Amino acid sequence: MNYTFPENFIWGVATAAQQIEGGMREGGRGLSNWDVFSHIPGTISGGGVPDVACDSYHLLDRDIAMMKELGVNSYRFSFSWPRIIPDGTGEVNPEGIAYYKKLLAGLKEAGITANATMFHWDLPYALQVKGGFGNRDMTGWFLNYAKVLLDNFGEDIEYWVTFNEPIATFVGNAKGFFAPGLCDEAYARQCCHNLLVCHGETVKLFRSRNYKNAKIGIVVDVWKHYPADPENPEDVAAAAAANETEGYGMYLHPLFLGGYSRYLNAYMKEQDVMPDIMSGDFETIRQKVDFYGMNFYNVLIDDSAKQRRLAAEQSEGGNYQNRPEYHTELLDKVLKEIVEEYGIDVPLFISENGLPQVGMTDREAILDDQERIDYLDKVLKTLHKAMQGGIDVRGYYLWSLMDNFEWSAGYEHRFGIYYTDFETLERIPKKSAAWYAGVIRHNGLPE
Ligand code: BGC
Repeated sequence: MNYTFPENFIWGVATAAQQIEGGMREGGRGLSNWDVFSHIPGTISGGGVPDVACDSYHLLDRDIAMMKELGVNSYRFSFSWPRIIPDGTGEVNPEGIAYYKKLLAGLKEAGITANATMFHWDLPYALQVKGGFGNRDMTGWFLNYAKVLLDNFGEDIEYWVTFNEPIATFVGNAKGFFAPGLCDEAYARQCCHNLLVCHGETVKLFRSRNYKNAKIGIVVDVWKHYPADPENPEDVAAAAAANETEGYGMYLHPLFLGGYSRYLNAYMKEQDVMPDIMSGDFETIRQKVDFYGMNFYNVLIDDSAKQRRLAAEQSEGGNYQNRPEYHTELLDKVLKEIVEEYGIDVPLFISENGLPQVGMTDREAILDDQERIDYLDKVLKTLHKAMQGGIDVRGYYLWSLMDNFEWSAGYEHRFGIYYTDFETLERIPKKSAAWYAGVIRHNGLPE
């Protein structure tokens, strides 16, 4: 089988500001919701905080050199809102603008195009205090931020992403284990609704600029759930609920079809968590985008009987670790179903894909990441198959360039193809870095 990808296929790596930059109190940066949340004892596994992270605020040149070594032709990164506008609104921070200008100049010199996300979860804390996304004024605050970004970087970015994985805002407000750490589902539903309006307003603003080359889209992660037994109502209900009420359906439906799905509407009414919706909101949200970025990590099979068995095996107080099963061979099916279900008629990207190394401490073992190579190889083969089958995927971004601050998992989950020594901040290529460089050189998988 020949796994060559189309000419001009985009091979990239992805990161996000809060996870790599550090420089928390440097260069005029304001605090983010995650800076504050992560400093609350008990929120982050191992107690890791993002104050320094990979120190990309100072080590930009090293990051770009790594991308050159890999041979990627695109870099997906995010802007830090608190670095650009420290208080969320008001004064723009010139040092913040200068930092990203430097990054973009470096990328340009290296022949790497930019895929930039406006919001990858790090909200200025000053706005969190005012209610964050739950406050409808957010639409104005966000639009002002988007305007600053477009004024400064408009055409320098080939692919603009408004939001990365809006689900994080739901998790942070409904489940408590992401910033800001709230457990209020009704509030979280309002946050998500307002966030989608921010997206729509930003696309409208972007269109008014008539850029020649820059494009705009959004990234929604898809962890599709399937019932283990399609005849078992319990499995079927579990999968549907996961997809519709706490998964991709919450976003893809309003973005591509308009309004919330019948399933989600019924659920929100029943649970009394329906957000306030203003007239015109759904039209605003359903703007035509230029592309859709799907973050893909895994597919989940809901097996109620097995869940019960595992729960029973789990000793009380023990730390029974249920190793995840990977079903990457279903990526092909997932892509087809999502495109069909939501009528997606714009090009797609796999905007993130990767595998963590969990809780490992031995450097040599971490560097020898054959398991990651095997996983990526399977994903790319399935992606190739999907594309052969007609799915219009234009690029693939590996998560992540280097080990970084993995949100609530702190520094205990390593997703990098470069190892980060968090003491010395040295970056060392793992086995997968050489493998990925080979994939890029061959524009596909070697025979
Ligand atoms: C996020 C990244 C995160 C990655 C691995 C995605 O959900 O966009 O920020 O690090 O998955 O967990």
